[in-house]
Amino acid sequence: MKNLKFLIFITLLVSFQLAKSEDNKAAIASAHPLATYAGFEILSQGGNAFDAAVAVSAALSVVEPAGSGLGGGGFWLLHRASDGFQTMIDGREKAPLSANKNMFLDQQGNVIKGLSKDGALSAGIPGLPAALVHLSDKYGKLPLEITLQPAINYAEQGFSIGERHRKLLKFRLAILQQNKSTARIFLSNNNVPKEKALLKQLDLANTLKQIAKDGKKGFYSGKVADLLINSVQKAGGIWTQKDLDQYKIIEREPVKGQYQGVKITSAALPSSGGVVLIEALNILSTYPLKTLDGISRKHLISEAMRRAYHDRAYYLGDTDFVDVPVQRLINPDYAAGLRMTIRQDKATPSSFFAGNSQEKKGGHDTTHFSIIDKEGNRVSATLSVNFPFGSGFVAEGTGVLLNDEMDDFVSKTGEMNGYGLVGGLANSIEPEKRMLSSMSPTFIEDETRIGVLGTPGGSRIISMVLLAILDFAEGNGPESWVELPRYHHQYIPDLIQYEKGALTNDEIEGLQSLGHKVKEKKYRYGNMQGVLYNKKFKTFSVASDPRGEGRALIR
Ligand code: DON
Repeated sequence: MKNLKFLIFITLLVSFQLAKSEDNKAAIASAHPLATYAGFEILSQGGNAFDAAVAVSAALSVVEPAGSGLGGGGFWLLHRASDGFQTMIDGREKAPLSANKNMFLDQQGNVIKGLSKDGALSAGIPGLPAALVHLSDKYGKLPLEITLQPAINYAEQGFSIGERHRKLLKFRLAILQQNKSTARIFLSNNNVPKEKALLKQLDLANTLKQIAKDGKKGFYSGKVADLLINSVQKAGGIWTQKDLDQYKIIEREPVKGQYQGVKITSAALPSSGGVVLIEALNILSTYPLKTLDGISRKHLISEAMRRAYHDRAYYLGDTDFVDVPVQRLINPDYAAGLRMTIRQDKATPSSFFAGNSQEKKGGHDTTHFSIIDKEGNRVSATLSVNFPFGSGFVAEGTGVLLNDEMDDFVSKTGEMNGYGLVGGLANSIEPEKRMLSSMSPTFIEDETRIGVLGTPGGSRIISMVLLAILDFAEGNGPESWVELPRYHHQYIPDLIQYEKGALTNDEIEGLQSLGHKVKEKKYRYGNMQGVLYNKKFKTFSVASDPRGEGRALIR
């Protein structure tokens, strides 16, 4: 009798698990509901996660033009389930052939304000179209005619703009008004359109169709390329056909590390994300963070961020152009040395390292999406045009809004870029070099769980992902990662920036008494998109950042 009861109990438990098992499902989290739907649409037509990634990326180009687009670039971290192969598709923009390290300086050698952020000269050669073609050709199952179709539909039929879109238009209004072809598409009577206004982008639909038909050539040569080059040159930019001809996608080996039983796979250079993340996590790896009081915990995490961001400023750049001691920086022994310089009772002033300190704004654009399909293929992708609506410049007749990613280079040693980041020679401008990024598409994995995550947020991307990884290590899932109140230290400026609610009054006082400067941000930042698969229960959990307007679904 006892045995029978036990048997029934086990049968019920197993059937409950089976009923709940989501093994035939997929999960997508992205910054816009229409982009998430586009991904599922492609999965339902027999596509895999990589096809879905093409569809989501292209849809985001249309429905979230402030964040990313055909005129920009990004990093797609891939995991192929059949053989466990992992790679990073580097579709980062690169400097035009006639760029040079003084191109944003005046005759006295001072930075000309705005030149690396606004208008045609601020745009690097886009990588996103080439990346979509590469992703589709090499990893997808469906042709681009199918995977680009949802984006083409959104561009042709239009969609209703959200509050976030309007807010960012307002933020960049002055520059958007200066360019007629931009204003014609995105503004209404040269102003921010009404709530829920319909945005149609017919030129962009045509450009997408060219790519669907001719692949890379549809963008980098022929009619679209002619239009791009003519309007860039007319507006004082320096692109040539040779720049477009020479743009190439590079596959790079992701950066890997471990933190207290969690395996981390993240972006390789030219994104600083993986190196900075692993270095900071290595520093933190021996502290019992979970059991510490809030002040000590936040002090140590901030000190680890300070040291890792310091190394970012001094060592990191495009490895095709400069030697970077990556293996040293992500070595646990190197971190052990840095850990010894951290005092539990005192903040280390950043001036002990070098540099100056002011603060810059930023953190509202760029985009991220996370996908796991039913086979277990994964994509973590962070895409960008840099500032909201990039350079504010649409190349006439293409609908393509160009990035202002040139600002991610160091215009002058020691001078801060739009995100307050400093750097030196490793990230100075050179023809064809890729500018250093902070985008950190990441996979995390422990015995039972697989996580896929990332976020926009300029220099704060890495610290947001770091906090989410620490949260994962403490057993929490995407709902918690995306909600977490955020704080951040980036070495320069020498302060802990935080969102309302991230530090209690006691923690503020405590951190100040250790010598930290703290500063509450006026706005909440980031737009994290997370997906988690539980290997034991075969279930998903997903979440989209409450700060944004995204959608995370399991289907
Ligand atoms: O590549 C980078 O690090 C920056 N261009 C990302 C910009 C960004 O995340 C802006 N947004 N919030």
